[in-house]
Amino acid sequence: MASSIFFFYSLLISSHLVVTLGGNFYQDFDITWGDGRGKILNNGQLLTLSLDKAFGSGFVSKNEYLFGKIDMQLKLVPGNSAGTVTAYYLSSQGPTHDEIDFEFLGNVSGDPYILHTNVFSQGKGNKEQQFYLCFSVDDTPIREFKNSESLGVPFPKSQPMKIHSSLWNTDDWATRGGLVKTDGTFAPFTASYRNFTADACVPSSGSSCNSSSLSSNNAWFSQKLDSASQDKIRWVQKNYMIYNYCTDTKRFPQGLPPECATTNLS
Ligand SMILES: *[C@@H]1O[C@H](CO)[C@@H](O)[C@H](O)[C@H]1NC(C)=O
Ligand SMILES: *[C@@H]1O[C@H](CO)[C@@H](O)[C@H](O)[C@H]1NC(C)=O
Ligand SMILES: *[C@@H]1O[C@H](CO)[C@@H](O)[C@H](O)[C@H]1NC(C)=O
Repeated sequence: MASSIFFFYSLLISSHLVVTLGGNFYQDFDITWGDGRGKILNNGQLLTLSLDKAFGSGFVSKNEYLFGKIDMQLKLVPGNSAGTVTAYYLSSQGPTHDEIDFEFLGNVSGDPYILHTNVFSQGKGNKEQQFYLCFSVDDTPIREFKNSESLGVPFPKSQPMKIHSSLWNTDDWATRGGLVKTDGTFAPFTASYRNFTADACVPSSGSSCNSSSLSSNNAWFSQKLDSASQDKIRWVQKNYMIYNYCTDTKRFPQGLPPECATTNLS
């Protein structure tokens, strides 16, 4: 299964200096942990993470990004991946960090992965949505987080984020709530990554990412989901969404979070 992930901010602030990077994993990423289980191969064209019976691995981007479009092709752990989690996320640093999460929860052969998503703004998460991953994510928007600052909800728009990914074992909770355990006889488990591109602002390169001077061809700044994309989100929500914090009235007995008023619901 190959999924190319499309990060989409509903409010994008652009800059006239947008950096486009051609994918080379040596140039763009560092393997950060995993004692040799994370590897960059094929002259930087391929990155693999693996998990042996107990221990995983991870990598992080060298650059920090603010606003833009980031593409990566991920090949998730094939076959029996129950109990494994492949996390792919953007995160800034510090206690009031911003974060956008994609976590792929493995499953036994033939059963669907779950895609778990969350958004943190100013250190606050609790914005989970989960989907069965049995449709093509490529070019299908699955989630939009609108700017609800007017309702008092912080929006991730000023803290640059690095791209992180890791593969680890979480059979205490991941697959059917921990009922299905990782089967070590299938180890090592391997996820692969290729074809990374970032059409995104890199503030450390000196660009002012929130500059109001826009170039017309780098318009992530003003990009919005069109009505066809809104329809696709509703289709995904209707057919594949398993959990949406915005409908969890048990969890929020005092009232749903304010941004839920602006969430597209089917
Ligand atoms: C795995 O497949 C089963 C059966 O379809 C499903 O109930 C479960 O939600 C799937 N995903 C995970 C992560 O357990
Ligand atoms: C890499 O991604 C680009 C678009 O980002 C696509 O056109 C190209 O076909 C991809 N290459 C491979 C080998 O999949
Ligand atoms: C704009 O970016 C600069 C750094 O480039 C930062 O100091 C400033 O706070 C930002 N302004 C807003 C409104 O985010």
